[in-house]
Amino acid sequence: MSNTLSRDFVEKGAWKEGLFEGKVAFVTGGAGTICRVQTEALVLLGCKAAIVGRNKTKTEQAAREIAALGPSADCVLPISNVDVRDMGQMEDAVRQTVEKFGRIDFVIAGAAGNFVAPFHSLSANAFKSVVSIDLLGSFNTAKACFPELVKTKGAILFVSATFHYYGVPYQSHVGAAKAGIDALSNSLAVELGVLGIRCNCLAPGAIAGTEGISRLSQEDPEKAYGKRVPLQRLGTTTDIANSTVFLFSPAASYVTGTVQVVDGGMWHIGTHFSHDLYPKGLLPENYNNSASVNANL
Ligand code: COA
Repeated sequence: MSNTLSRDFVEKGAWKEGLFEGKVAFVTGGAGTICRVQTEALVLLGCKAAIVGRNKTKTEQAAREIAALGPSADCVLPISNVDVRDMGQMEDAVRQTVEKFGRIDFVIAGAAGNFVAPFHSLSANAFKSVVSIDLLGSFNTAKACFPELVKTKGAILFVSATFHYYGVPYQSHVGAAKAGIDALSNSLAVELGVLGIRCNCLAPGAIAGTEGISRLSQEDPEKAYGKRVPLQRLGTTTDIANSTVFLFSPAASYVTGTVQVVDGGMWHIGTHFSHDLYPKGLLPENYNNSASVNANL
């Protein structure tokens, strides 16, 4: 199954062609699966976009492929060698975006790091690394874009998760970071709302074809997880795209300070991890040399 969108998203989907014409998006992590499809949806609906990433080849290739869905080859600007943990690099990325497109209306703070690791083998540096990329990176993204958002009365979408809604094992680092992101978004919604800027979070569940789901299962993820989700299937990147478009669209003009969970109801029944992994991988006799969990434990 393809994870990328096509013209069908406009021609057969729920959204009006040209909905985002004249708008510009700034997306961190835009070359990864989730944020890439979010960018594709915006571009298909007429938005221009800058995608910000660490890896030059990956970011430039993603930009070329996303731009092929839009009106011209330069409607997506790749900005690479940028680490969201570095405020100076973020400010420079914003400057390049405004130089190219003149404005920023929509911000997606999506750059994230994750791996599946039990607390006993999670180093202090690994914890700091994920919290810094996810939480500090989200703050830096919002902060660097803020002057532009004031001018456009724009909107921020933080990519969160559902790992902190209950005690999900092997995700203490990510859960802590994403809880912080939800808190950051709530405060910014209140502070920036008075300036006409909206802030929301999108929390994806198990989405087919993502790095995240492939880490959790080495068998076919749809078989392993699909039937454990209340809506009886894994999510798709189109599910993420639709919620993203809604939250940036005029239909959401009175929506701020919310978390849009796109997980088919999964977190309510706590199916994040296979029962093979809990508690087996946490018991001393099953510790191994690797910091990460082997999904086949
Ligand atoms: N399991 C456990 N610890 C890990 C790990 C893993 N799979 N990968 C990295 N770490 C630890 C490292 O060992 C290091 O800690 P140490 O110094 O105590 O050894 C620490 O994390 C930082 O690693 P580093 O290589 O310096 O990476 P970074 O700071 O550039 O952070 C990561 C990047 C760690 C988040 C990396 O996993 C990454 O970039 N992943 C790809 C993107 C991604 O995961 N996206 C999310 C999709 S859901």
